[in-house]
Amino acid sequence: MISLVIPTYNEADVIQDTLKRAAEVLQGSGEPFELIVVDDASPDGTAGLAEALSAELPVRVLCRKGERGLATAVVRGWEIARGDVWGVMDADLQHPPEVVCELLKALRRENADLAVASRYCSGGGTVGWPWFRRLVSWAGMRVGTLALPWTLGVVTDSGSGIFLVRARALQGVELKPRGFKMLLEVLAKARYQKVVEVPYVFRNRTRGQSKLGARQYVEYLISLWGIGRSSGELNAWIGYGLAGLAGAMAYIAALVGLENRTDWPLAISLLLAIQLGVLASFIVDNGVSFRRGRAATRSLAASRLARYERLLLPGALMNAAVTYLGRTVGIELWGAALLGVMASACWNMAFAAPGIWAIWGKPLKGVGGRA
Ligand code: GDD
Ligand code: MN
Repeated sequence: MISLVIPTYNEADVIQDTLKRAAEVLQGSGEPFELIVVDDASPDGTAGLAEALSAELPVRVLCRKGERGLATAVVRGWEIARGDVWGVMDADLQHPPEVVCELLKALRRENADLAVASRYCSGGGTVGWPWFRRLVSWAGMRVGTLALPWTLGVVTDSGSGIFLVRARALQGVELKPRGFKMLLEVLAKARYQKVVEVPYVFRNRTRGQSKLGARQYVEYLISLWGIGRSSGELNAWIGYGLAGLAGAMAYIAALVGLENRTDWPLAISLLLAIQLGVLASFIVDNGVSFRRGRAATRSLAASRLARYERLLLPGALMNAAVTYLGRTVGIELWGAALLGVMASACWNMAFAAPGIWAIWGKPLKGVGGRA
């Protein structure tokens, strides 16, 4: 049986239609279901309107008083869920209820533990969003997966508000989400093996108003931070930063040293110094940042180093070019080298970081709650 939670705040205009449509499509799925509306004492009387349908449809209504928040409402709903599959869907029909059936089918077919509807895999999308919201949503997602590649890298839409999870994956797990992004908390804490994604198109809101605002964006960033702390991704990032620092220092010191003590051409010194810098940062990444992932990585250190060098090559060339240019326009060598390092750091952050994290893969234990 599927227990679908529908969190509501001031959705009087649409809640009855949503419940009717959801019930209709779920009946078609042939699987038993219950709809759990969790309302935060909406002043517009949403709870009463939902309750009115409970005689004819399998609808239960939970009314919270003195508490607000989408994600915590979902947790409350799941607490009283009776199904073996739990889900969540918005009340405003921006999530077409048919998608829930597709998620259910995919979950059963693939014997997955988690089924996520995605706007960002092929076939998915959004309609009617102003460019600004599209940009913010996309950027938020990119920042999330860049910052937490182990936890969020398993899906293309970690901000999705419509997904299903097996109840057993959350057995004994204490969920303490913040803000809007329930899925972040599930990805971080559920004990799951297999994830499936189903594309969907996020519809325009035709009735009622969105409750998403600046506060939710801040809560999103706080959630990322909290997850990173417990998953070890934050520590890995600190190591990654130290590796960059070690590389930069080795590079600048070697370059200045070679220039002062030898009469080799600058190009040769540059090549050597860059090589030393890359080696220094590899040693820190391999020995510190990604130490825990290393246990699960079967590759040889030499082949990891080769991949590392390949990924850092474009940034290194940029570094060399900037240093060289800086030198030709008369900047002190160490200053030019510092500029080169900063340019390549930006480049590597944007383009090389995901690949570098992937060299070691994620640690087997301790990332999120993955089984
Ligand atoms: N109980 C409760 N309490 N429900 C809430 C609250 C609250 O404080 N705030 C919002 N909701 C309900 C709304 O009534 C609606 O059913 C659902 O949560 C989504 O709220 P919207 O305000 O419509 O959010 P949105 O459309 O901007 O964002 C949604 O879609 C995004 C993209 O899929 C959310 O589902 C996001 O989590 C999602 O990322
Ligand atoms: Mn909405």
